[in-house]
Amino acid sequence: MSDSLPRIIVLATGGTIAGASGNPGSSAQYQAATVPVGALLQAVPPLQRVARVEAEQVAQVDSKDMSFALWSALAARIAHWSAQPDVAGIVITHGTDTLEETAMFLHLTQPCPIPVVLTAAMRPSTSLSADGPLNLLDAVRVAAHADARGKGVLVVINQQIHAARDVAKTHTSAVDAFVSASGGPLGFVQDDYVRFARAPLPRVAILPLPSAWPLVEIVASYAEPGRVMVDALVAAGVRGIVVAAAGNGSVHEGLGAALADAARQGVAVVRSSRTGAGHVALPAPARAAPGGFASALDLNPYKARVLLLLLLAADPSLGTDPARLQARLGAY
Ligand code: SIN
Repeated sequence: MSDSLPRIIVLATGGTIAGASGNPGSSAQYQAATVPVGALLQAVPPLQRVARVEAEQVAQVDSKDMSFALWSALAARIAHWSAQPDVAGIVITHGTDTLEETAMFLHLTQPCPIPVVLTAAMRPSTSLSADGPLNLLDAVRVAAHADARGKGVLVVINQQIHAARDVAKTHTSAVDAFVSASGGPLGFVQDDYVRFARAPLPRVAILPLPSAWPLVEIVASYAEPGRVMVDALVAAGVRGIVVAAAGNGSVHEGLGAALADAARQGVAVVRSSRTGAGHVALPAPARAAPGGFASALDLNPYKARVLLLLLLAADPSLGTDPARLQARLGAY
């Protein structure tokens, strides 16, 4: 390993990339988040000619159990390493199940003076054709690459580079599970060739890390939904509700009545789509009152919730001003 190579920090959080099974033939029966990051790096010898890699085990979790505390810890470690003048980039290993939420959180909160790249794997480290080693190598290649600077938080998986804001998991088990439905990937990696074909949407600003996290939840619209969940959320003090609405943001009339009551009490209501792709139309003036029923645009319900969490933490009265809410949703 040469001193002239870029210095890259790997922050490990667990997931299937760190998963192991007693049955090497299996890619479905395994324990996520068991292999330490040092062992993951040792399994990828070509890393040594790409970068000087140092690693930190920030957590060892199955990402279904992701928490605000771990998001805050990751943000603190990114801030620490970004401030070291000789660190060229940061790679985060993560579970695939909620990677799109952590990626969105980091996209919204991290200034990224150096590249921050998340990666993951669909198959555990012990499986035949494990995808983790190549994904980790590619993530380091991208984090070390000059063209990755100024592009915000990135996700590298299955030889593709995605914008953190855009990417989502769309399959339970396939290695090509990650898709950027709005505009496609930003680029690709093939061996040492890192190629960006387009730039991500520009960020207007970054949002502050919350000192307290408001209660923001997701409800879905489907045949004959009850209003019991919305009423229970309002009684519990919810500040924001994202609706996984049908089609182009359509909400069942019964659920809509409950949400209108919530909005009248200052709850920020945002419509996203349960379809998995496309923009949700802006509220027509007739449907905008009361409370707005704002559009999450092209953000899926889980990403829209992350944005709403951070917006409401910074501006708790946003639910009382539908026009301001819609403008803020469109700015990230
Ligand atoms: C997880 O999300 O931690 C488990 C599943 C995976 O990484 O694919």
